[in-house]
Amino acid sequence: MALTGLENSDLELIIFGGKGGVGKTSCAIATSLALAGNYKTLLISTDPAHSLSDGLEQQIGFNVVKVDGTDNLSAIEVVADEALSEFITGYQAELKKLFETSTNLDNQDIEEMLSLSIPGIDEVMSFKTIIDFIEEGEYDKYVVDTAPTGHALRLISSPKLLDEWIKVAARMRWKYRYMITSFSGSYQPDEVDVLLLSLKKTVKRIENILRDGTRCEFIPVCIPEAMAIMETGRLLSILANSEIIARQIIVNNVMVSDGCDFCRRSKAGQLPYLTEIGETFGSLNKVEVPRFPEEIKGLNALNELKRCLFNELS
Ligand SMILES: Nc1ncnc2c1ncn2[C@@H]1O[C@H](COP(=O)(O)OP(=O)(O)OP(=O)(O)O)[C@@H](O)[C@H]1O
Ligand SMILES: [Mg+2]
Repeated sequence: MALTGLENSDLELIIFGGKGGVGKTSCAIATSLALAGNYKTLLISTDPAHSLSDGLEQQIGFNVVKVDGTDNLSAIEVVADEALSEFITGYQAELKKLFETSTNLDNQDIEEMLSLSIPGIDEVMSFKTIIDFIEEGEYDKYVVDTAPTGHALRLISSPKLLDEWIKVAARMRWKYRYMITSFSGSYQPDEVDVLLLSLKKTVKRIENILRDGTRCEFIPVCIPEAMAIMETGRLLSILANSEIIARQIIVNNVMVSDGCDFCRRSKAGQLPYLTEIGETFGSLNKVEVPRFPEEIKGLNALNELKRCLFNELS
């Protein structure tokens, strides 16, 4: 089988995720190369480990660059810390005022609260960067490579965490608003209200696109090994709970050669796991990718992986 449906014109955001080392980055790059054949495509990594540069053998950073040797493909590595520090620097005054006006905290408490991170905010900020790109609409397809499962899950659950924080902040504000209205008879929304509203909108924008199966699809990458299968199961159930669509799964590193004793034994060892994958994830379109003799680095190898993923092998 091959990856299907990615060319649908409504589908904009394709997110790759899975256990560490299973081939997420390689598959994300190869998919973006395939899509760039017909669509203006932006490849985005949210992995702090800067993995795109290694696979593409080209320096990719916090600014969009064209991928060498391609026409329609650009890439960027979105760093959560950087996205977050931009937010904190930009809204330091508003956050301080939120705490000052809404509670009985003293100055030391406020400084401490400010230094605590808002749950999920760094991941939300990297997601916001992605959503901003999508809303600017410069590209047709956005392919996202994530760091291993835990990180992808934090990314997915970050809007919910932030939403809960906003609710608490809004309740604090409501008390302040009530007090001001009682004293002066009216209340003018200030910069803190504007910030809370804009954060609320960011959360909604992220949730809307993630939950829209026509615009967004998550592709889990797995290998025929026990731990990877367990982790993929957990990932899929969290995706389902979060109403994020996964229609297909990549099973990477499948042994095909019978050429030597080692290959035969590796292949036989994978068989029960391949059966388990077929049974456990039977509702998903399954795309098997053979184990390559060498690691997948540079455009030639990545194009070969692309041909495996899209069944273009002759
Ligand atoms: N089918 C394959 N055959 C041979 N090597 C592969 C295959 N798929 C991936 N690799 C190699 O395995 C290593 C891990 O792949 P990759 O970086 O794509 O995984 P990842 O899931 O993104 O890892 P991480 O969790 O660290 O981000 C790389 O060296 C890559 O070249
Ligand atoms: Mg990776």
